[in-house]
Amino acid sequence: MRVVVENIGALCTMSDAGVGPLGRIDNAVVHIEDERVVYAGPSESAPLFSSDALHVDAEGSAVLPGLVDCHTHLLFAGSRADEFALRSRGATYAEIMAAGGGIRNTMRAVRASSEGELVALGLARLDHMLSLGVTTCEVKSGYGLSVVDEVKSLRAIRALDREHAVDVVATCLAAHAIPPEFEGDAERYTALVVDEILPRVAEEKLAAFADVFVEQGAFSVEQGRRVLLAARDLGLDIRVHAEQLSNSGGAKLAAELGAKSAGHLEFANEDDIRALAGAGVIAEVLSSAQVFLGMQQRIPGKKLRDAGVRLAVATDYNPGSANVPDLQLAAGLAITMSGLSADDALVGITRNGALALGLSDRGVVEKGARADLVVLDTKSPYDLVYEWGRNPVRTVLKGGRIVVDRRA
Ligand code: NIG
Ligand code: FE
Repeated sequence: MRVVVENIGALCTMSDAGVGPLGRIDNAVVHIEDERVVYAGPSESAPLFSSDALHVDAEGSAVLPGLVDCHTHLLFAGSRADEFALRSRGATYAEIMAAGGGIRNTMRAVRASSEGELVALGLARLDHMLSLGVTTCEVKSGYGLSVVDEVKSLRAIRALDREHAVDVVATCLAAHAIPPEFEGDAERYTALVVDEILPRVAEEKLAAFADVFVEQGAFSVEQGRRVLLAARDLGLDIRVHAEQLSNSGGAKLAAELGAKSAGHLEFANEDDIRALAGAGVIAEVLSSAQVFLGMQQRIPGKKLRDAGVRLAVATDYNPGSANVPDLQLAAGLAITMSGLSADDALVGITRNGALALGLSDRGVVEKGARADLVVLDTKSPYDLVYEWGRNPVRTVLKGGRIVVDRRA
């Protein structure tokens, strides 16, 4: 199948090919063959392309790579609206978690759901995210917290990848919270994760990554290290939830183990930032969680960037700390609330989001890349982060196929 996307006012390649941090090329065209980009550049220097290609007219608008949401917990059931109301009256996220709510609340709903029910919930959420331009999405388990329920969740995540146009990357976050059966015995639950859950997940090839929530009331640095080393031995890549509610050592652990990424980082200090930079760990800026939780402490986006840390931006979509499936809004918030520039934010939801998932074949528009593209209905690529509450995405191509067409 051959496709030409023509009449592009501003092509953001996110590569070194164009001008500035967005790799911008004006008056551009993209040629696609067999799901891949074969040419992305100025119209006037485009080679001849087959006459039977499907033509997509961008009408002078901006075109970007398909968006990559590299950190979500979208496979959940139930609702935590009551906890949101409790927090509005002064309860903190940590207090609700310590009282048996929070992640455990969603755990009960996930355990009570069948794999099919979880898949149905996930597919509807992916539909919405795709309409906003997301073509690759990471999804974590972590609401099962037992062998059967983590395996059930990860099988559901695998089904999402198979059944939906969005490419889904699975992460095992069995080390998300201590389930009630192991109350007061984090050591014994850590052993279950290391000895049973991760080996099962690896054997069934259910996840590309393992993650751990290093935090007071969740997992210690020592427990996190055991989980991540075991995961690495089983061939999984690793990532960390670090320094979200307090400075707990997750960032240094990520650096020590050479994790692909570390998410949150509200409480990361100068030492942590240096360690992340030195080890080449990508920071996932999750501003929707920062804002949804009403955190006074902000993600030090500018400090991270100035230290040379690569910044990805993601939604953290989940029912407790970020009930926000909107990656465009997450990027807007990263600018106004976490110190990123608009260029940082756009690179963070494309190229750097992909790199945080270990993927270099997307998040850029260049020869050889997957033909995942977003066509806006406006001329400025910044409209993606500037228009809050209106979706400027007109057309989405996934592997060269039109999967969203929102033209009136
Ligand atoms: O990334 N911090 C830990 N995990 C999630 C929240 C999960 C939940 O509250 O359900 C997060 O914010
Ligand atoms: Fe998260």
